[in-house]
Amino acid sequence: MEIVLSGIRSTGHLHLGNYYGALRNFVQMQDSHKCFFFIADLHSLTTHPKAEDFHAGVKAILAEYLAAGLDPEKVTLFVQSNVPEVSELYVLLNMVAYKGELERTTSFKDKIRGQEDNVNAGLLTYPVLMAADILIHRAHKVPVGKDQEQHLEMARLFARRFNNLYGTQVFVEPQAFNFGKDLLKIPGLDGSGKMGKSEGNGIYLMDDEKTIHKKVMRAVTDSGPTQANSPMPESIQNIFTLLKVVSTPDTVSYFTDKYNDCTIRYGDLKKQLANDICKQINPIRERILAIGGDDSYLRYVMEKGTAEARASAQTTMKEVRKAVGFKSF
Ligand code: TYM
Repeated sequence: MEIVLSGIRSTGHLHLGNYYGALRNFVQMQDSHKCFFFIADLHSLTTHPKAEDFHAGVKAILAEYLAAGLDPEKVTLFVQSNVPEVSELYVLLNMVAYKGELERTTSFKDKIRGQEDNVNAGLLTYPVLMAADILIHRAHKVPVGKDQEQHLEMARLFARRFNNLYGTQVFVEPQAFNFGKDLLKIPGLDGSGKMGKSEGNGIYLMDDEKTIHKKVMRAVTDSGPTQANSPMPESIQNIFTLLKVVSTPDTVSYFTDKYNDCTIRYGDLKKQLANDICKQINPIRERILAIGGDDSYLRYVMEKGTAEARASAQTTMKEVRKAVGFKSF
C-alpha cells in the first residue's frame, strides 16, 4: 500500500491555504493509503524560537486537524518533536546536503529577508529536516501546496544521494501530490501573493461568519473592467481563484460572464465568496470548538499516534544505521 505523509508548522492557526492547498487532499486519502500526518513544531522554532505558549499552539492546531476531517483511527497523527528518530536522521542527512544548494533554496532566501537578525542554521537546513520527516516513513506521496515543491525536489535529491553513497535502497523518492494534478497556491486577500500565516491576509478555519465577511469585503479590488473581455488584474484573479475553490462551477461562470461583459459588481462577488467560504468552514469551526476542549481525547490521539510513528521511524532507522556502519561493540 502506498504511503502518504504531510505536515504543517505549529505556528498560528490553519488557514484556507493550508486546508485547500494540502490538508483536504490528505483527508481524501485516508481510506486508500497508509497515512502519516504531523505537526512540525521543530520547524516552527526556525522562525519562532520562543513562542509565548508553545504547547497551547500545538494543541490548538491538533484540534483543527481533527476538525478538518483527519481520523486518528485511520491516520497516524503525531508531533515532530515526540519522534526523536527524526532528529537523528536529520543529522545524518545533513552530511549529504550542501551549503550552496541550501543557500539557493527559495524559502531560505525569502525567510532571511524577514528575519535578518536571526539567520540561524536551522533555517538553512530547513529542507533537510523536512526530508527527514518524509524519508523516515518512506512516504511515496506528499500532499502539499505549490510553495513546498522545491523542498520535495530536495528530499528526492538527499534520498538519492544517501542511497548511492551507502549502496542502499532504504529511502523512497517522494512526490509532491495534489488530486487536481497541479499543486495549488491559494492567494491572500491583499491583492498579491499567497495566503500565509505571517502575511495577515488569510482566512482561518477558526474565523466566525462575521469575521469572514469583514475580511472578504475588505479584499483588494480595482474600479472594474471598462472593456469587454479585458484581462483580469492579479487582485481580481485572486478572488476568482478563491471562488473556484469554494463555490460551484455555475457560480464561477456566472461571475466570469459578468466580468467579461463589464456588468460585474464586486460587492456581489465578494458577498457570494464570503457566503460560500462560510458554508464550507462553519462545520469545521464547530468541530474545532468541540474537540479543542476535550483534553482526554487529544491525549489519546497523541499517545496512539506517537507510538505508531516511533515504531515506523525505528524500523527505518535500523536500516539507516546499518547502512552507515554503526555497530554495537
Ligand atoms: P506550512 O505550515 O507553511 O503549510 C502547511 C501546508 O499548507 C500549504 N500551504 C498552502 N498551499 C496553497 N496555498 C497557500 N497559500 C498555502 N499556504 C500553505 C503548504 O504548502 C503546506 O503543504 N515545510 C512545511 C511543513 C512540513 C512538511 C514536512 C510538509 C515540515 N515537514 C514534511 C510536508 C512534509 C510548511 O512550512 O508548511
